[in-house]
Amino acid sequence: MAAVAPSILAADFANLQRDVEMLNNSEADYIHVDIMDGMFVPNISFGLPVCEAINRHAKKPLDVHLMIEQPDRYLENFRDAGASILTVHYEACTHLHRTIQLIKELGVKPGVALNPHTPVEVLSEILPDLSLVLIMSVNPGFGGQKFIENTYRKIYKLNYMREELGCDFKIEVDGGVNNTNAKLLVENGADILVAGSFVFNSANPFETIAELRKN
Ligand code: DX5
Ligand code: ZN
Repeated sequence: MAAVAPSILAADFANLQRDVEMLNNSEADYIHVDIMDGMFVPNISFGLPVCEAINRHAKKPLDVHLMIEQPDRYLENFRDAGASILTVHYEACTHLHRTIQLIKELGVKPGVALNPHTPVEVLSEILPDLSLVLIMSVNPGFGGQKFIENTYRKIYKLNYMREELGCDFKIEVDGGVNNTNAKLLVENGADILVAGSFVFNSANPFETIAELRKN
């Protein structure tokens, strides 16, 4: 049984409250919130006030994915805006250990995301400190992109490292997730499936979330 984190990036921004309430009533385990700064990724999504607004209505924990440069500058703000999990990019943090400790001190669960080209081995020394590793299965910046097949191999390797080290972080996969790849992702070790367009563009998002969860 997989956990599902629908990505609010694919929601109708003019009806955010309606879509958050739909997620509240669904079997979704988290609400995935994508923050993009137009620098780390070539797109701008939304920022703190929108995250706060989502949090005012959300009954599920906010899984905040920071696709921003120097994320240390905003960790406390996103904690205050309701984040339960704060995930930073390995590629955006020069002093990743310091960043992770900062997130922990704020009382939030720390996660690290890896771009498609970044090998999972770079995290070997920090894995015991993490609650979550997010494997990007597309290049971050946009919803609705094509799933990168090499992701299965990365998840398999990371799952192996997790067992070897006896760690308990969750493995999350993000980008192009749908009902054709979800099962194999979970079989390789993924615990949390992020899905944006597959959920929100489906005829019945509520049902789609329940179906994804069965993997
Ligand atoms: C991409 C974001 C994803 C995105 C996923 O940069 O991190 O969370 O919302 O969207 P889909 O599921 O449409 O690929
Ligand atoms: Zn994301």
